[in-house]
Amino acid sequence: MLVPGAARKRQGDIHMTETSEVRTNDEVWVVGATGRVGRGVTARLAARGLTVVPVGRSRERMVAAGAGAGLPGDAKVVVAHSAERIAEEIVRERPRVVVNTMGAFAATAPVIARACMPGGHYVDQASDLVAVQGLLALHDEAVRAGSTLVTGAGFGVLATEAVVAKLCEGRPAPHRVLVDAVGSVAVEAGVLGAALAASMVDVLTTGGRRYENGRLVTSRLGADPQRLAFPDGESAKSAGVASGELVAAHTVSGAAFVTATSGLVPTAPLLRALLPLLGRLLSVPALRRLAVDRLGQVRIKAAPRPRKHSWGHAVVEWADGTRHEGWLRAGDGMDFTADVTATVTELLARGVGRPGSWTPAAALGADLATPAGGAFILD
Ligand SMILES: NC(=O)c1ccc[n+]([C@@H]2O[C@H](COP(=O)([O-])OP(=O)(O)OC[C@H]3O[C@@H](n4cnc5c(N)ncnc54)[C@H](OP(=O)(O)O)[C@@H]3O)[C@@H](O)[C@H]2O)c1
Repeated sequence: MLVPGAARKRQGDIHMTETSEVRTNDEVWVVGATGRVGRGVTARLAARGLTVVPVGRSRERMVAAGAGAGLPGDAKVVVAHSAERIAEEIVRERPRVVVNTMGAFAATAPVIARACMPGGHYVDQASDLVAVQGLLALHDEAVRAGSTLVTGAGFGVLATEAVVAKLCEGRPAPHRVLVDAVGSVAVEAGVLGAALAASMVDVLTTGGRRYENGRLVTSRLGADPQRLAFPDGESAKSAGVASGELVAAHTVSGAAFVTATSGLVPTAPLLRALLPLLGRLLSVPALRRLAVDRLGQVRIKAAPRPRKHSWGHAVVEWADGTRHEGWLRAGDGMDFTADVTATVTELLARGVGRPGSWTPAAALGADLATPAGGAFILD
């Protein structure tokens, strides 16, 4: 069943915080509704009958994207050009839920999430370590405000977090957890886009991390390259990364030793050797801006997804030598992401969810992956 623990009670549109009652309207705002994730989320929420309001930089592009997503021609849109301006509009109008798909989450998520409090709720698809840690750091503030904040509502974070949660269910905290995320995504023709470019650059600048004796320590980006054999007979390479998946696997399991790999990290020896240098160079703010700008403008050709399935994988080991392994099989990683975000958003709009700041399975249970087309294969 979805939603473990105490489901928060909703009384019409009045939300209880620790100190007061706060009114929100019934709107769900989608920041970045013209983008790939944003369009998918807007269409899914509109089809579920929610009052969806596209938020972004261009009224014309949002009206067109809204129409494509099935919103009426006269649907409300909010025009704002930065996270700060969007936050001002949220404070003024008090939507019930804000979905942030504009990217650069380490910077934009805290600004937008704070504006939702008190009483309003927040969802994003961050999967980089800094952004996920930054949002989770707002936990106590969110509890006091009666708001539910969910970060990592996508393939990145949920596909591995859900497997770890399933494998640890009813068992004591394990000693060691390894998670691997290998998405398979169809490419749309067009420019790569600044949001995705920023995510790629963030992976390089953060470098590698793992948990040792319960502490987050630096490791090499691209460590432990491996070829993963999937249960459907296909295979793909992955290598070590500092990610939201790493943080979520640690939090949900309580394991002292945790590592994470991703199929997005280059595994070719020459590229792996260059990763630390690239990371240092891109940490220079001017070079980072240049790289995000140039990369964001790169034109890409349409391509089908490289493999039939996206896979989340976890191996969990206990101190007594017990070992369990599991997989989450999903379809296209982007579709899975839009489905997960839409489901989380709908649940929060209905008043389901505990106040606080969470990763998706921690907030609403591992079975959140199932309505998004995920299937668990557990030993
Ligand atoms: N967790 C996961 O598994 C997962 C999966 C997929 C994507 N993601 C992440 O989700 C984010 C979105 O990805 P995407 O592919 O949908 O990106 P995208 O297609 O580039 O869309 C970004 C959207 O944000 C808007 N935007 C950008 N800067 C803005 C600003 N300053 N003010 C207002 N709106 C702004 C864009 O509007 P304009 O039309 O004005 O440009 C566009 O609508 C990325 O960070 C990506 O890495 C995560």
